[in-house]
Amino acid sequence: MTTLYNTEKFKGIRTPFYLYDTNILRQTLSAINAETEKYGNYHVHYAVKANANLKVLSIINEYGLGIDCVSGGEIEQVLKAGFPANKIVFAGVGKSDWEIELALREEIFSFNVESIPELEVINEIAGSMGKKATVCFRINPNVGAHTHANITTGLADNKFGIAMADMEKVIRMAQEMQNVQFKGLHFHIGSQILEMDDFVALCNRINELQDQLEAAGINIEIINVGGGLGIDYSDPVGNPIPDFKSYFETYNKNLKLRPGQTVHFELGRAVVGQCGALITKVNYVKSNSLQTYANDKEAGVKNFVIVDAGMTDLIRPALYDAHHKTFNISSDEAMETYDVVGPICESSDVFDKDIQLNKTKRGDLIAMLSAGAYGEIMASQYNCRCLPLSYTTDEL
Ligand code: LLP
Repeated sequence: MTTLYNTEKFKGIRTPFYLYDTNILRQTLSAINAETEKYGNYHVHYAVKANANLKVLSIINEYGLGIDCVSGGEIEQVLKAGFPANKIVFAGVGKSDWEIELALREEIFSFNVESIPELEVINEIAGSMGKKATVCFRINPNVGAHTHANITTGLADNKFGIAMADMEKVIRMAQEMQNVQFKGLHFHIGSQILEMDDFVALCNRINELQDQLEAAGINIEIINVGGGLGIDYSDPVGNPIPDFKSYFETYNKNLKLRPGQTVHFELGRAVVGQCGALITKVNYVKSNSLQTYANDKEAGVKNFVIVDAGMTDLIRPALYDAHHKTFNISSDEAMETYDVVGPICESSDVFDKDIQLNKTKRGDLIAMLSAGAYGEIMASQYNCRCLPLSYTTDEL
């Protein structure tokens, strides 16, 4: 049995639920601030898509981070959590008119614009509201990242951003427009990136582009490098704080800045990933014989732990083949091998296969770690299920 949690405190609480460890969250935020303070012109905007839980947001806000939003709903949520509008960057490949209006009304820090048609619409709406929109262009740097194909975003055939080759033309267009002010460039190459060389490759691309734009007499104030720093899913207990030191050092060493430029980061997973766990209860343990034919004596059995959480509560294993370190927090019996599965009527509703858990029985509690990012926020009500609840360790 792990001593991760005192399960007495969970008595009577409906499962499954997300549990956010405020100590880990605070340590993570302190580590980020300690590193960025070294550089003076580095600003982190928390990518709220990773987790928009109000209790989590209010702690992040205490540490003075800005915000990266990708929808009007996210803008509303962070304003509710108390973040100042002038620290919000607003990205997204398909912004709706009402979202643009909301962002202009609230006077956010900047729009990350992903296409010429979008730029034209922002210019038009800003004009009709008597506002001037600050814009950065999202450039597709055509830099691959060593991560899952579904979460790579910076390659030429992804839907995101404007091609490097069109950059100068688009900036010139913006400079001619009455109601937008061009301020900078935005990039994002992918998520769950642990190889610093991927960020070095991005820096090199940005340096090239800056040289090119400088030669054309174009000034850049803001360089937004996106997010993407990964976390240690295989050892969250031993390694709860991501390597922010190497991450920011990599940018400091490789990104060539001009005087007065500020560098903006949009970190999501690295901020909240390790502070969250999904706590679920075992409904059934069953053994299925793998024997197809009566004379196949060697076939053995497969042990399933069927929990009350499903892919509706944590979709990452089903969607990205992700593995969340899983513990039976109610048992200290000998280890056995299990597949951990949910109750949803989909064969992809499997959390993990052939993992070692302390001998498990009905009623035991199971914790799936590193679930703070893209966990609760991606929950759905498929099969008419309830959304998971959430608590912080301050509450329990
Ligand atoms: N900026 C932009 C433009 C993004 O598209 C993303 C994430 C981020 C920042 C934050 O990236 P992070 O620091 O969290 O890696 N649901 C997937 C991850 C999708 C990431 C989408 N974009 C998962 O569960 O792994």
